Amino acid sequence: MEQSRIAVIGGDGIGPEVVEAGIRVLEAANDAAERLSFTRFAWGCEYYLEHGRMMAENGLDTLAGFDATYLGAVGWPPVPHYLSLWNLLLPIRRTFDQYVNLRPARLLRGVESPLANPGNLDVTLVRENTEGEYSDSGGRMFGGTPHEVVIQESVFTRRGVERIVRYAYEEAKGRRGLLVGATKSNGISITMPFFDEVFREVGEEYPEVEASLMHADALAARLVLDPERFDVVVGSNLLGDILSEVTAAICGAIGIAPSANLNPERVHPSLFEPIHGSAPDIAGEGVANPAGAIWAGAMLLEHVGYPEAGARVLAALEETLAHGIKTQDLGGSATTEEVTDAVIERLRSPTV
Ligand code: IPM
Ligand code: MN
Repeated sequence: MEQSRIAVIGGDGIGPEVVEAGIRVLEAANDAAERLSFTRFAWGCEYYLEHGRMMAENGLDTLAGFDATYLGAVGWPPVPHYLSLWNLLLPIRRTFDQYVNLRPARLLRGVESPLANPGNLDVTLVRENTEGEYSDSGGRMFGGTPHEVVIQESVFTRRGVERIVRYAYEEAKGRRGLLVGATKSNGISITMPFFDEVFREVGEEYPEVEASLMHADALAARLVLDPERFDVVVGSNLLGDILSEVTAAICGAIGIAPSANLNPERVHPSLFEPIHGSAPDIAGEGVANPAGAIWAGAMLLEHVGYPEAGARVLAALEETLAHGIKTQDLGGSATTEEVTDAVIERLRSPTV
């Protein structure tokens, strides 16, 4: 049997803890000794403090040889965030053309939404992941003087907008057929009207999808007030980032939410990670919520060809939470290890 080769970057803070928990679950779900092989890379801020770089010099070439990457979190206080991210996670997303950042948000049983009436909350957020507001085009002049000038340009390409919007229409077509495009064309008068234009153009190919555009600020409020009406939401890199934090929060806690950074054409490896950060305040205490990493692991399994195993992992996770076995961020008292053990137990005997 051919193995899927998974590169593992635990990263910083709680990253390594939750990713190791996820690996234990994936191994239990998929007879992994035969089907998956995990290779760990100790890259991140600690590596930076020792070597002056966030990953090995040939790090990207190394990752290119794997089928997927499983990542924990990046960011640790002494290293500025823009530096750690722009030298590890963001180059991976861009080098491997992982232009889709897919963020499913669903209210799992046993998890309480902060909303009084969350209803049947199930939203997939499709975020552009390689361009837009996350650009390194710009600069700083007259530093430190009263006339200091700082410019950072957003980059929206026709190819980039078309492909993310098309991905979102396809996603909506496979779900409930509702798509909302997040815009801000009332205030941002050049790039956002362009986004809207492409959104409508591509929409002509999808008469079966009920599509509309909504300004991101109003959309954020709508997601809180009436989340049930949303099915798929698509947004630019920054708008999608912010809105996905909202969708994660209304589903109970950001500790649960997963994300897949996809190169849909599969020319390059994709990357799977929980959306929570490195959480320095609880790092090393064994109490981090492994749910986001486990759910991201389920998405990884699906991507590398084991959708059935992925679905079993998500079901076992939901079953575990429904039994009240959850970490402190969800109002429980279980440790990372206890949650992980409980998920594995349910995988082995699904009727528990
Ligand atoms: C995310 C994170 C990253 C992003 C940060 C850490 C650069 O917030 O994956 O959502 O903004 O993409
Ligand atoms: Mn984010």
